Amino acid sequence: MCGIIGVVGSNDTLGTLLQGLARLEYRGYDSAGIALVRPGQTWRARCASGTESVAALRVECEDAPTGFRSGIGHTRWATHGAPEAQNAHPHLDCSGAIAIIHNGIIENHTELRGQLEAKGHIFSSVTDSEVLAHLVEESRAAGLDLMEAVRASLLVVRGAFALAVMDANEADVIVAARRISPLVVGTAPGVTYIASDVPAILDRASAFYAVDDDEVVRLAPEGFRVIDLEGVPVRLHQLTIDWNLETAEKGGYDDFMTKEINEQPDALRATLLDRRRRDGTITFDEMRISDDELRDVKRVVLVAAGTSHHAALVAKYALERWARIGVDVDIASEYRYRDPIVEIGTLVIGVSQSGETIDTIQAMREAKRRGARVIAISNIVDSSLAREADAVIYTRAGLEVSVASTKAFVAQVAALELLALRLAQLRATLPPDDIDALFLGLKAVGAQVKTTLERRSAVAQVAAELIGARDFFFIGRHVGYPTALEGALKLKELSYLHAEGYPAGELKHGPLALIEPGVVVVAVVTDRAMREKILSNLAEVKARGATVVVVATDDDEAIGAVADYVLRVPATEPMFSPMVDIVPLQIFAYSMARGLGRNVDRPRNLAKTVTVE
Ligand code: M6R
Repeated sequence: MCGIIGVVGSNDTLGTLLQGLARLEYRGYDSAGIALVRPGQTWRARCASGTESVAALRVECEDAPTGFRSGIGHTRWATHGAPEAQNAHPHLDCSGAIAIIHNGIIENHTELRGQLEAKGHIFSSVTDSEVLAHLVEESRAAGLDLMEAVRASLLVVRGAFALAVMDANEADVIVAARRISPLVVGTAPGVTYIASDVPAILDRASAFYAVDDDEVVRLAPEGFRVIDLEGVPVRLHQLTIDWNLETAEKGGYDDFMTKEINEQPDALRATLLDRRRRDGTITFDEMRISDDELRDVKRVVLVAAGTSHHAALVAKYALERWARIGVDVDIASEYRYRDPIVEIGTLVIGVSQSGETIDTIQAMREAKRRGARVIAISNIVDSSLAREADAVIYTRAGLEVSVASTKAFVAQVAALELLALRLAQLRATLPPDDIDALFLGLKAVGAQVKTTLERRSAVAQVAAELIGARDFFFIGRHVGYPTALEGALKLKELSYLHAEGYPAGELKHGPLALIEPGVVVVAVVTDRAMREKILSNLAEVKARGATVVVVATDDDEAIGAVADYVLRVPATEPMFSPMVDIVPLQIFAYSMARGLGRNVDRPRNLAKTVTVE
C-alpha cells in the first residue's frame, strides 16, 4: 500500500511530486523517492527516514537540477526488503535511464530475478519491484516502445501492481498499469497525472479517471490512451469527485484524528440524509438490486477488515433482530481461502471505508464468482469496491485521513442499520410504526454523539491518570462486544499498548488468568438488559486487583460503586449504542497516545489503505 504519483508536461514537476507525496504519506511512510526524467537524463533522489521521509526528500531535492517537465514519486510501505534507502522507489534499470515505481507485490519475483540475473542484469535492491525495471529494460532492448515494453513485461508477472514507468530515451511519457492495486489518471490542459489516489492530484487535475485491472495507460502532456494486456484499446471510467482539498485539511485541529472524531455528528447526518421517503420507505440511491431479490435473501455474509469488521459485527445483531435473517461475519482475508458456501439467496456485503482494501475486494470477487449478489458499503465514491459491486451504499462520512478509523465506523454502523431496517420493511418482520420509531432514533444519534464529544476533557483526565498502565482488556456483551473490540483496536494501534477486546462472558474461560493489579479492564455497560451480567464479570476482575473503567449511561447512578472511573454517555436504544459508546473510547485511545508522545495520525507500521494481501 505504497503511494504513487506521476506527472508529464508540468512547469512545476518537483512541486507537484513533493506535494502529492505529502498527501500520500498515509499510505505508507517507510521511505520516499522521486525520479525526474528528460531526454537523455534520469535524476533520482530517495530517503528512508520513517515518518519524516517526505520532509527529508524535500531537503534532498533542494539541489535537484531544474527544467524537468516530467517525473514520478513514491512513498513506501515495506513488504519485500527492509525500509532502507536502497529499497526505496524509484528503482532503475541497469542503464539508469528507466525508472519505475510500484505498489503491490510481484509474487513470482524470485523466479524472474533469477532469469534476469542469468542474462546479466545487476540488481541494487532486495525488493520484488525492481524486477519490473529490468523486465522493461529487456523489452526496450528488443525494440519495443515504452508502452509495449511495459505491456510485454506484465505478461510474465504474477501478483498485484499499480506502477508507473519512465525512460529518458522516451521522455515526457509515463506508462502506468494496474492489477488489483488502485490507480487514477488526472488531466488538466497540457498536463497529465497518475496517482494511487485522488487527493495527491486533487487541486492539480480537473478530470479524473479510474484505471481498471490489466489496463496499461500511456500518459503524455496532451492526454492519455489506454490498452488492455492484449493490446486492445479501452476507455477509462470518469470518476465523480464530490470532495475538495479543503475537506482534506485539518480544519483548525491539531491533527486529522481530532478533526475526524469531531466530525462524527456530521458524518451521521450525511449518511442518513434523504434516505426515507415521505411514505416511510427507506431508500438507497445506488441500490441496483430489486426489492423482490432483497426480500428473498436467505442469508447475509458480511466481509470486512479492521474497524469495518467491527461495524459489520454490530450489523449482525441488527439484521438478525430486525430482519430475521441469519448473518455470518467474516474477516475478509479469511473468507476467500476457506472455500465458502454461497447458496441461492446469499447476499454478501463488503464493508470498507476506502473501498480499496484488497482483502475485502478479493472476498467480494470470490463471493460474486460463486454466484452471490454483493453490496458495497463504501465511503469513497467510485472506489474499486463500489464499482465492482451489484449495489452501493455510500457512507458519506467525508474524507478520512487519519490511519485510525473513527467517523467511518459510526457512519458504517448507521448505513448497515439503515439497510437492516429496509430489509425488515421488505420482509415485514417489524411493524411499520416500530421501523419509523427506530429510524427517528437513528437520526437522534448524531445529537447524542455531539453531547458525548463535549465531555472530551473528562475522558482525557482518566487517560492521564492511567498513563502508566501497559495492559488493557476491553469487554462488553451483545453490541457492546464489537464496541469493546473497536475500543481495544483504537488503543493498540495508536498507543502501541497491549489491548484486547473480549466478550465479557468469555473472560472466565481463560483470559482471567492474566488479570492482576496494574491491568485495566474497560467495560461497556450501557445496555440495561446486559448490566447485571457484566457487573458479575467486573466483580471477577476487581477481586483480582484490576483497575475498572466503565462506559455507562447518565442515568446509571449506581455504577460508581463498582468502577474506579466512569466515562458517561447519554442513554440510547441499545442497537444504536455502539455509535455513541465508541466516542469516549476513541478519545481515551487518542489521549493515551498523545500522552505517550505517539503520532496519532500516522501510527508506526500501518497505512491508511491496505492494498496488499
Ligand atoms: O478502508 P477499510 O475500511 O477497508 O480499512 C479496513 C482496515 O484496514 C481499517 O479499518 C484499519 O483497521 C484501521 N487502521 C483501524 O483504525
